[in-house]
Amino acid sequence: MKATCWMGTGRVEVRDVPEPKVINAHDAIVRVTSTAICGSDLHLLDGFIPTMQKGDVIGHEFMGEVVETGPDVKNLRIGDRVVVPFPIACGRCNMCQSELYSLCENSNPNAWMAEQMWGYSPCGIFGYSHMLGGYAGGQAEYARVPFADVGPLKIPEHLTDQQVLFLSDIFPTGYMAADQANIQPGDVVAVWGCGPVGQFAIKSAYMLGAERVIAIDRFDYRMRIARDRGGAETINYEDTHVYEAIKEMTGGRGADACIDAVGMEAHAANAWHLYDKIKTNLRMETERAVVVREAIMCVRNGGTVSIAGVYGGFMDKFPIGAVVNRSLTIRSGQCHVHRYMRPLLQRIEDGEIDPSFIITHEMSLDDAPEGYDKFLHKRDDCLKVVMHP
Ligand SMILES: NC(=O)c1ccc[n+]([C@@H]2O[C@H](COP(=O)([O-])OP(=O)(O)OC[C@H]3O[C@@H](n4cnc5c(N)ncnc54)[C@H](O)[C@@H]3O)[C@@H](O)[C@H]2O)c1
Ligand SMILES: [Zn+2]
Ligand SMILES: [Zn+2]
Repeated sequence: MKATCWMGTGRVEVRDVPEPKVINAHDAIVRVTSTAICGSDLHLLDGFIPTMQKGDVIGHEFMGEVVETGPDVKNLRIGDRVVVPFPIACGRCNMCQSELYSLCENSNPNAWMAEQMWGYSPCGIFGYSHMLGGYAGGQAEYARVPFADVGPLKIPEHLTDQQVLFLSDIFPTGYMAADQANIQPGDVVAVWGCGPVGQFAIKSAYMLGAERVIAIDRFDYRMRIARDRGGAETINYEDTHVYEAIKEMTGGRGADACIDAVGMEAHAANAWHLYDKIKTNLRMETERAVVVREAIMCVRNGGTVSIAGVYGGFMDKFPIGAVVNRSLTIRSGQCHVHRYMRPLLQRIEDGEIDPSFIITHEMSLDDAPEGYDKFLHKRDDCLKVVMHP
């Protein structure tokens, strides 16, 4: 079958690979009908995520039709149309029972690798390095889905792939970022990044009662979507001092909550960024931390900083003094998608939101390298690429 393979830093190729098989009685095989490229995939492409191997099949946002089930799968039938959440979760362990699905204790066979880096291991993730399980991803014609009774969400016929595909990751991720920001009615919420995750964080902040959302980026077309579709006010960080602007917009108090929807590859044109670039190049730090630092500085006293952007290792110049002396709360996590996908599907069915508004490019899986290139370099006003095998 055809699959998108990581072939080294900066290289993805569509290659012919063996079709997946049921190897555990709880597995299902899904014929992928739609799959998307995520900002997290760009961290793979750019070589920021360790333990990738040449030829690994990538992709963790996918949906399709169940074509085979293992003998112990009870909730799915052949022919069911499902969206698959990116974290692989058993549904039974202590973490799954606490609805902390991205921390499932049974889905990462390579937990020891993650323990070396992080102390304890999170769950396994489709197509996202050997440290996170070495599972083949879903940017392919078929995918093997472990714990098939637990993850896949059945989709009613009247909804299109485009409307529901993002329940696999970025809609719940943006929603969880807002959920963890402790938003109270009337709050001002600032969101760094107007990529797909930022767009859903903006929408979700309003759903949870924010009065104003201020979104920060540098690409005009992305900020335009944040304004027109999300109802946000926007700041271009290239021509405006973000701290001063947010201070001014909030009567001198700062934002009630700040959301980082950018992550480890943040860009900036200031001395801090130069510092991070030099130190990451020398491998003395692993993150570009500008957004975390700025979000901490811009939140009001006693406010919450919610980090949805992915970070992998160690960050310098973390403003711990501001966190302690100003009673700040920091929350984060890979999204516990299973916790949010059903209520968010309901919101889609109720017509409250149509997540397809972020799609700018649809193409065949054969064109995956072009899709990655457009999304990475923001060519052709690219916001989200959906591919069909
Ligand atoms: N926690 C999770 O479960 C989870 C799930 C999905 C994605 N993510 C992460 O969320 C992040 C965003 O994903 P995406 O798909 O929206 O990616 P994206 O790359 O399309 O969007 C990132 C946006 O941030 C902007 N940006 C860069 N530097 C900035 C700065 N200094 N200030 C403000 N904006 C800045 C970029 O211009 C871009 O528009 C990534 O790190 C991704 O890995 C996390
Ligand atoms: Zn993702
Ligand atoms: Zn579990």
